[in-house]
Parts: sequence; structure tokens; C-alpha cells
Amino acid sequence: MNYAPLLEPIHQFLLCRTPQAWIDEASKPENLTLLLTDHLVCELKAAQTATWLIRKYVADKPSGEAILAWLKPYEDFIFREHADSQFIHAHKNLTKSIIVRNELPWADDLVEKMVLLIKEELHHFYQVWEIMQARGLPYSKITSSRYAKGLLREITTHEPDTLVDKLICGAYIEARSCERFASLAPYLDAELEKFYISLLRSEARHYQDYLTLAAHISPKDITPRVRAIGEAEAKLISEPDKELRFHSGVPAF
Ligand SMILES: [Fe+2]
Ligand SMILES: [Fe+2]
Repeated sequence: MNYAPLLEPIHQFLLCRTPQAWIDEASKPENLTLLLTDHLVCELKAAQTATWLIRKYVADKPSGEAILAWLKPYEDFIFREHADSQFIHAHKNLTKSIIVRNELPWADDLVEKMVLLIKEELHHFYQVWEIMQARGLPYSKITSSRYAKGLLREITTHEPDTLVDKLICGAYIEARSCERFASLAPYLDAELEKFYISLLRSEARHYQDYLTLAAHISPKDITPRVRAIGEAEAKLISEPDKELRFHSGVPAF
């Protein structure tokens, strides 16, 4: 698969590339369990963010609750370390349609894009878990990286800017994930390389969807916010970091 055209807009959007020092550290065999564990958690967090957006801004109460129920088995596994992986059965049942509670012109667009995103992230979650299972890599809780917290600090605290900033952060997280999958893939074994390349198309679309929504919802030009959040993102990626995680900075440990 020639994925260069897919990555081109991503590389233009991000203000820096993944440092080679991160790739060298992340591709060490002894870090594989940690990396896959963090990847697994990131897939759930991506689904949680989209769920939160739907519930906070558009869905009526029963739809919001139905969508929360989708996530519950995954959350039980990750945060409560339920050994029985109930989500094995859950991931095929994501069919409830969402009823929007308001007349916002972008409500349906947000629901449509975010529901697809949730389904895809939960599918990715299942795929990562399957690989860990097949390799006998156990799941255990890890601390989250500074990355998402660092980006959240950039978010304006009044609406509609808050929502627009959150969507732009979503675009950066998805774009960075896509760029990292592509950067790391050639350094991994054949199975993981194939898997990471297979994720590029959907992650590239997620980035686009977030950005399109931000532009659609914002009453003003989003370019300055895209730039400011992009600068914060590039700093988190290029500065020294004490922990290795999927979105961590330059290894300094
Ligand atoms: Fe994903
Ligand atoms: Fe994604």
C-alpha cells in the first residue's frame, strides 16, 4: 500500500515530526508490552472523548445513556481491571441511533462523525487486545502520559471556543497518532507493521473530521487556534519526557 498521499496533509498539519530518539526507544522489544498497553488505553480514550462530545453538546438523555453503555465493558476492563473481557461480545452491538436534543445546524454532522469514530476506535481497541492476547502480553494499569493533559491546558474556558478548541485538540491527537503509526511501523515485526499501517486510513479521516467540525462550528476563522494548539502539541513531542508512552516526547530517563 502506498500511504504517502495519506500522510502528506498530516505532515503539513503537524508542526514537527516524531523524533528518531522516540522511535529508537519505542521499538525496543522490552518496551512492547508498555507500548501496546498505552495504545490500547488510547483507543478507549479516543472513544470516550467522542462520547463525551456527543453527550455534552447534542444527544438527548436516553441516547447519551445508550452510548455510555457501549463503553462500559471496555472501561471495566481498563480502569477496573476486570479479568473477564466482556467487550469481546460488546463490540458487535453498537447500533443505537442517537437522537439530538437541539436544533444546532451542526448537531447531526457531529453525531454522524463521532459515532463512526467511536465504532472504529472500539474496533481498534479489540484488535490491539487480540494481539496482546495472542502474544501472551498481560494487561495491567499504567499511568497516562502528559500529552493529553498538556493539550487540555490549551483549551479556552468559554463557549463556543471551548468546543472548537477541543475539536482542534482532537485533530492533533488523531494526526499525531497517524504520524506515529507510520513512523514506528517499519521498526516493528511484520505483524505489527501490517497492523499499524492498516490503522492509518481511519486515523487520517478522524483528524480530518475533527478539523472539519471545528471549522464548521466556529463562528470565526480557526487558523490562529490551530496554530496555537499546534505549537503546544509540537512542544510536548519535542521536549524531554520522563516516561515512554505512545504520545510521549524525547526519552529522558
Ligand atoms: Fe484508533
Ligand atoms: Fe482515531
